[in-house]
Amino acid sequence: MMVRIAVVQTNPIFGEVKKNIQNALDLMETAKADLYVLPELFNTGYNFVEQSEAKALAEPADGLTFKTLNEWAKKHVCHIVYGFVEHADYIYNSSALVDHSGLIGVYRKVHLFYSENLYFAPGNLGFPVFDLPIGKVGMMVCFDWLYPESARSLALKGAQLIAHPSNLVLPYCPDGMVTRALENKIFTATADRVGEENRGSIDLKFIGTSEIVAPNGKILCRLGTSESAIGVVDIDLSFADKKQINEYNHLLNGRRTDQYSL
Ligand code: ACM
Repeated sequence: MMVRIAVVQTNPIFGEVKKNIQNALDLMETAKADLYVLPELFNTGYNFVEQSEAKALAEPADGLTFKTLNEWAKKHVCHIVYGFVEHADYIYNSSALVDHSGLIGVYRKVHLFYSENLYFAPGNLGFPVFDLPIGKVGMMVCFDWLYPESARSLALKGAQLIAHPSNLVLPYCPDGMVTRALENKIFTATADRVGEENRGSIDLKFIGTSEIVAPNGKILCRLGTSESAIGVVDIDLSFADKKQINEYNHLLNGRRTDQYSL
């Protein structure tokens, strides 16, 4: 079954939640897809200067952002993955998966990057995989990519696609995700943002370069470094089920867990 996956590359303005959501929806209106992946913290912006800011912009998983995207998903019959600040027992850097029927699941970023450690609690939900009509989808958020255990955990649980909301500031991830896709024979959809956030003591410039990568490591679409844009590809997610490399090598069964010290 062919499905259309979209990476939505936006330029959020810090704190302008309604405007940031609307800008993302305007972009999504330009290209029909079965699953849209939006950036990390796409509704709030990223560069917090104190914890109270993150708390003030946090929402429960069923908050305003969810309600708005759920309404849009009802109209367009699609799935949406997006990053947001989650207000739960603690404040988390989370991503949610929604469709027309409601909230399907939440992932809380496990590997917090740099000053995120001051504002968020580390994720505690593991790496869940959701069995959707379009295929099996798991999530990770930005810096999680640098820990191969994140993508491997999702692959071992049967994910066919990793939806990867991101706010990248270093140049390594887009090429790195080619390896994550190849070493797990899995599709990846990294949705990054563009623009700058010069606040507090640190200026950040985000690198864009959102991309969708196939299980053979082929980059199916890659966006630019400075413009808001949407990239779509039509793919058959069942290709990610083919873990046999040749007659002797099965990617996952060939792991030598007795020889690793993890
Ligand atoms: C990052 O994890 N946002 C770099």
